Amino acid sequence: MIDQPVRVAVLVSGGGTNLQSLLDALHDSPIARVTRVLSNRPDAGALERARRAGVPTTVLRDPGDPAELQAALGDAQLVVLAGYLKLVHASIVARFRGRMINIHPALLPEFGGPGMYGHRVHEAVLASGATESGATVHFVDEEFDRGAIIAQEKVPVEPGDTPDTLAARVLKAEHRLLPKVVLDLARRIV
Ligand code: GRF
Repeated sequence: MIDQPVRVAVLVSGGGTNLQSLLDALHDSPIARVTRVLSNRPDAGALERARRAGVPTTVLRDPGDPAELQAALGDAQLVVLAGYLKLVHASIVARFRGRMINIHPALLPEFGGPGMYGHRVHEAVLASGATESGATVHFVDEEFDRGAIIAQEKVPVEPGDTPDTLAARVLKAEHRLLPKVVLDLARRIV
């Protein structure tokens, strides 16, 4: 039985629709709660979503500084990278081993790695001729998009798809998958 919801910190760089899916799914959950949102960009739309939900935010001055990141993570028990584009320092990865996850908009291990974010991912999927894409949630390790895969949700690639139409379909899958995985992990942590 969980006494207090697991404290979840979410790291963001962009618009934050995945953050929103967590805020919506967890706001009254006894299992897990978004307790802080950290961004490397002061203009990230995700920050506004956090403020609207009453969740404390931090803008990192130097995302490469492990001491700053560690302090900003505070008492978080689980860390979610939701559209966060910076590599996390190895010392922070070590502190949160098995408790830090990332969401990626393709079926890893394909279409991931340095520079593979945003539309580039969907362009690469379309160029490959793949008939499926999807969302992947994986543990964070010292490399981009390489940690152990926790869960995936597949979507079809439709004839005539553009990077935009495929991105929109994958994003819906992301919004279903991420809260599910966070709740599953939170149940196991406590
Ligand atoms: C998502 O596709 C996520 O998988 C990727 O960046 C995008 C962020 O979208 N890492 P949002 O900021 O959550 O709307």
